[in-house]
Amino acid sequence: MKAIEIRNRYLNFFKKHGHTVIPSAPIIPENDPSVLFTTAGMQPLVPYLLGEKHPAGTRLTDYQKCVRTNDIEEVGDNRHLTYFEMLGNWSLGDYFKEESIKMSFDFLTQELNIPVEKISVTCFAGDEDCPRDEVTAECWKKVGIPEERIYYFGKDDNWWIAGEEGPCGPDTEMFYDTGKPKCSENCNPSCGCGKYVEIWNNVFMEFFKGKDGKYTKLAQHNVDTGLGLERMAMLLQGKETPFDTEIFKPVMDKLVELQKVDSIVSRRIIAEHLRSSMMIICDGGRPSNIDRGYILRRLIRRMIRHMNKLQIALDELSTLIDINVENLKEMYPALETNKETIKTVMLEEKDKFVKTLTKGEKEFFKEMEIVKQQGKDMLDGKMVFRLYDTYGFPPEVTEELATENGMKIDKKEFERLFKEHQEKSRAGAEQKFKGGLASTGEMETKYHTATHLLNAALKVVLGSHVHQRGSNITAERMRFDFSHPAKMTDEEKQKTEELVNKWISDAIPVEHLEMKKDEAIRLGAEAMFIEKYGDIVSVYKIGDVSLELCGGPHVTNTSELGHFKIKKEESSSSGIRRIKAILE
Ligand code: ALA
Repeated sequence: MKAIEIRNRYLNFFKKHGHTVIPSAPIIPENDPSVLFTTAGMQPLVPYLLGEKHPAGTRLTDYQKCVRTNDIEEVGDNRHLTYFEMLGNWSLGDYFKEESIKMSFDFLTQELNIPVEKISVTCFAGDEDCPRDEVTAECWKKVGIPEERIYYFGKDDNWWIAGEEGPCGPDTEMFYDTGKPKCSENCNPSCGCGKYVEIWNNVFMEFFKGKDGKYTKLAQHNVDTGLGLERMAMLLQGKETPFDTEIFKPVMDKLVELQKVDSIVSRRIIAEHLRSSMMIICDGGRPSNIDRGYILRRLIRRMIRHMNKLQIALDELSTLIDINVENLKEMYPALETNKETIKTVMLEEKDKFVKTLTKGEKEFFKEMEIVKQQGKDMLDGKMVFRLYDTYGFPPEVTEELATENGMKIDKKEFERLFKEHQEKSRAGAEQKFKGGLASTGEMETKYHTATHLLNAALKVVLGSHVHQRGSNITAERMRFDFSHPAKMTDEEKQKTEELVNKWISDAIPVEHLEMKKDEAIRLGAEAMFIEKYGDIVSVYKIGDVSLELCGGPHVTNTSELGHFKIKKEESSSSGIRRIKAILE
């Protein structure tokens, strides 16, 4: 079965079971600087898993475009991918274990026709935070999984959380038995020998892990599931790797045709990084030296280096992009509409790298001579870092060059310097996120208060589903992103403006309060990422109009703001609108 068919069957199946199909969020999270890319289907849904009402209801399903970059260096083996698609279904305080397991089982056995004998499952073994998940095991037995194929494991295997803090809970994982022989007497789904392949993960998200590492119960019980599409396609097609499926096949075949040197590892790297970079660029990513941009740069550069290794003319990159667009446009129509942009960005980056590649190599040989003259055989970390930082030279290239010349590189020192650099970039990203709030001139302060009024006004005019999704303030204007499914009408814009201006002329005092987070939640305070705040929170109250978690600063009375005017209302991304406004 082709990947697109698996996706369609999945969405239709869950639709039939009362779920609303929601669009994939962009790979680049709109307003969450805490992560570089969307790494799981649940990520864009965090506010709703924490209790906020989702406009589409309590049963949702989607396919989510995901990028995970922890293992870039592993790509080239038979399974690692940086870009993948995750099929998911969610219960937001709706069904729980029994129904979730029944639906997963029916989907696997009836829609994908996987024989029951091929399915094994794992459940949470229990610890001091959460009891052994016998309920889940019972549900599996009920649908027909025999006891000997139900395994229990601890937090390492059967607990799911995105990162260090946030909504989480015990999970149950489904495994496909490839039919390979057992690696040992104790061979089981967690042993990693390749006999069992994980196909689906259902998380019973009932807990919230705070910064302090403590678990608290969430107000509602949720189900969050994730099924890796490429892997499922590979298994159903009886292939050994995702690169053998129709998703990668056309590019892989073309590479065989173009290559002058043979390397399956390089071909996989090229095919994988090509798709991944194209998807990231399609969602607005651009190569740069920090954060997301740097990851993209690394993907493209690693791909180019491997094209070089196979001695494929770099001009062929354009052909490879064409092939991928043609092959993947049914799954991702945006690839076709954005084809020219994708090409321009990728080809520009290629040209840049080709330039630095030559310069970097020159620099490398210069330095190498100096080191050799000193009678040493190790290039120090500083130099490796400089090649990386100034010439965009990935350390692995330096290492390869060094090896070719009988030298070594000080990787440890490089990694230390790289980490230091990353921390600086991260601090930079946080600073960026604070945006206008970091500079607190008189106008910025006014705009900041106006943001709270606008947020409140939109709730009145459009409905309580409106929530802030981002904001950016300068001394000249404010920009405000919020959740709302449709373009605002002229009348709605006018009403919003009038309401903000009424509150300004009402001369309402702006009060700064500090209270317990629970109390703020109880009072219905607005917050973008409530889970990110400590126990005592800073809240700004504007009469009965607005109550928002916020670090300030604000004006002391709304009358200071002047006249509020909306300049533009436009789409920011799917389900998110953006207002640009000024105070005059
Ligand atoms: N969020 C869960 C995962 O990524 C479903 O596995």
